[in-house]
Amino acid sequence: MKKGDVVVDLGAAPGGWIQAARKIVGKTGYVLGVDLKPIEPFPWEYVRTIVADITEPETIEQVLTFLPRKPDVVISDASPNISGVWEVDHARQIDLASQALELALKLLHPGGNFFVKVFEGDLLNDFVKTVKKHFEEVKFVKPKASRAKSSEIYILALRMKPNREVKASAETESPCSANELVEDVE
Ligand SMILES: C[S@@+](CC[C@H](N)C(=O)[O-])C[C@H]1O[C@@H](n2cnc3c(N)ncnc32)[C@H](O)[C@@H]1O
Repeated sequence: MKKGDVVVDLGAAPGGWIQAARKIVGKTGYVLGVDLKPIEPFPWEYVRTIVADITEPETIEQVLTFLPRKPDVVISDASPNISGVWEVDHARQIDLASQALELALKLLHPGGNFFVKVFEGDLLNDFVKTVKKHFEEVKFVKPKASRAKSSEIYILALRMKPNREVKASAETESPCSANELVEDVE
């Protein structure tokens, strides 16, 4: 994310990431926050929020009407309500991350970047493989703010491939491993 970027923040309430993104993109950029819950409005005209469900097919249209152009970056911290049953929470989180990926693939221009929260578990490998089909570089990131013991981890996917490259690379996809971990970031 850099100055002047257009950013879509999925699962954005109460708005911490929106504020961090706003500082980076500045007033030549634009940040749109999307959440099931309303977010207190911000005083900057280049920051907007909408109430929408990222799992609903009509959300893409709603998002597009609020954007000045195709976004450079889609970030998603969307999380389900935690049930405490690990398998259930892992599956729901991967499902939300997959919905966020689908939106990102439709919204981003080729070369755009995607950052998404997942929980570690059995379904993660397949999800990462899918992300790798669509982006040139994919890394796991564990921010310092995320508790070391938590299974929460983020995937940073850089430079979305144009569609035709995706088709070509699908056959030569390499499997991923947990050893590709991890960048500790602030
Ligand atoms: C951990 S919070 C996000 C915190 C945010 N990144 C911040 O910095 O303030 C996760 C959010 O995901 C939202 N969420 C969960 N499911 C969603 C969905 N289907 N569509 C939109 N937002 C969703 C929740 O309402 C919740 O506000």
